[in-house]
Amino acid sequence: MSGTAERHVVADADEIDNGERIVTQIKGREITVFRYDGDYYAYLNWCAHQGGPCGEGTLTGTSIASYDRETGEVDSYWGREGEILNCPWHGWEYDLTTGDCLSRTGVTLPSYPVEIEDGEIVVTL
Ligand code: FES
Repeated sequence: MSGTAERHVVADADEIDNGERIVTQIKGREITVFRYDGDYYAYLNWCAHQGGPCGEGTLTGTSIASYDRETGEVDSYWGREGEILNCPWHGWEYDLTTGDCLSRTGVTLPSYPVEIEDGEIVVTL
């Protein structure tokens, strides 16, 4: 039984700078709340690979590759700086804005709704 979702104030919105995070406990779960580019994201501090503390990973970019079938030309460059959450255990990469794993289709970090109300960060869980 998951029970009824409740709203939890986790911090003042200005306690988290852009690109920073806080780790908090809600209903016995460890939740990491990130602020990035004016938005807030809340994920379970857990990695879909082997359960590592993904929410404590580095926010970084990723290598973006392209392949042109017509010309056979390949290209690779570094992009999305600050938007990629890199699990500290084995380096799985997740899109911070969606929770989606970059290399494994259908794998997504468990997430929770976040709202800012009267200057406070409210997570529903
Ligand atoms: S536990 Fe996260 S990459 Fe292995």
